[in-house]
Amino acid sequence: MSAFGMVQDKVAIITGGASGIGLSTATLFAQEGSKLVIADINEAGAIAAARELGGGAIGVGVDVSKAAEVQAMVAAAVAAFGRIDVLVNNAGFGFRGTVETIEEADWDRLISVNLKGIFLCAKYVIPVMARHGGGSIVNTGSYTATSAIADRAAYVASKGGIGALTRAMAIDHAKQNIRVNCVAPGTISSPYFDKMFAQAADPEALRAELDGRALMGRMGKPDEVAEAILWLASRRSGFATGSTLTIDGGTSIW
Ligand SMILES: NC(=O)c1ccc[n+]([C@@H]2O[C@H](COP(=O)([O-])OP(=O)(O)OC[C@H]3O[C@@H](n4cnc5c(N)ncnc54)[C@H](O)[C@@H]3O)[C@@H](O)[C@H]2O)c1
Repeated sequence: MSAFGMVQDKVAIITGGASGIGLSTATLFAQEGSKLVIADINEAGAIAAARELGGGAIGVGVDVSKAAEVQAMVAAAVAAFGRIDVLVNNAGFGFRGTVETIEEADWDRLISVNLKGIFLCAKYVIPVMARHGGGSIVNTGSYTATSAIADRAAYVASKGGIGALTRAMAIDHAKQNIRVNCVAPGTISSPYFDKMFAQAADPEALRAELDGRALMGRMGKPDEVAEAILWLASRRSGFATGSTLTIDGGTSIW
C-alpha cells in the first residue's frame, strides 16, 4: 500500500471501470487502499476486475444512462461500504460522424451515456456524499472539448458538455464540501482503439496518425490518465474545483 494514502479507505465508484482508463484508475485506487465499486455495462468484466483487484472491491453491472440502474448501483455501494467518498464518472464511448451523417438515434445514445450518465450518477451519489461530509467527483472529459476534432460531432459535443457540467456542479455543490473536477485526456491507447486498429486498412498508418497527434509523438497510456484522476479525487488537490486537467501530451497546444 502507498505510503501517501491519497485515497486510502475512501469508498470510490468508478464507472466504465472494466476497461481502459477506468480499469487503470481502479487498479491505482486499489493499490492506494480504496474500497472500490467497479461499475460497468460489461457486468462480467466489472465483476472479474473486482475479483482480480481484491481488497473487498465489488463489481456492479450498470448502464449509466438508465436512472433505475444507477440507483441500484448507488444502493449496492451503500450496502457494501455504507458511504461514497469518490465518484469517477468515466464511462463513455465515441464514433465517427458529422451532424450530416450521424443518425438521430446514435446521437441520442451517445449523449445519454457520455453526458446524461454523469448527471444521473451525480444525482444519486451526491446526497450520499453530502450525508457523510462531502467528497470528490472526477469526470472524464476530453481535450476535444475545447479544441474539437474532425468527424466526431456527437462525441465532441458530449465532452464539451462535460466540461460545462463540471463547472456547474462545482458551483452548486461546494457548500456540501463536494469538489467536482474534470480530466481531459488526449489520445490514449485503451481497448477503445483496438477495434479501430483491427478494422484499419493500414494499421501502421493509423498508429502513426494517432501517435502524431501529440507534441510528445505518442499515444498516452491509461495509467497516465489514472494518475491525474487519483490526484483530483484525493485531498491532495484540496483547492481544485471546477477545473479541467488536460493530460494530452501537448496535443491541444500545437
Ligand atoms: N482513449 C482515449 O483516447 C480517450 C481520450 C479522451 C477521453 N476518453 C474517455 O475516457 C473514458 C474511458 O475510455 P477508454 O478509452 O478507457 O475506453 P474503453 O472502451 O476501454 O472503456 C470504456 C468503458 O466504459 C464502459 N461503458 C460504455 N458504455 C457504458 C454505459 N452506458 N454504462 C456503463 N459503462 C459503460 C465500457 O463497457 C468500457 O468498459 C471515456 O469517457 C472516453 O470518452 C478516452
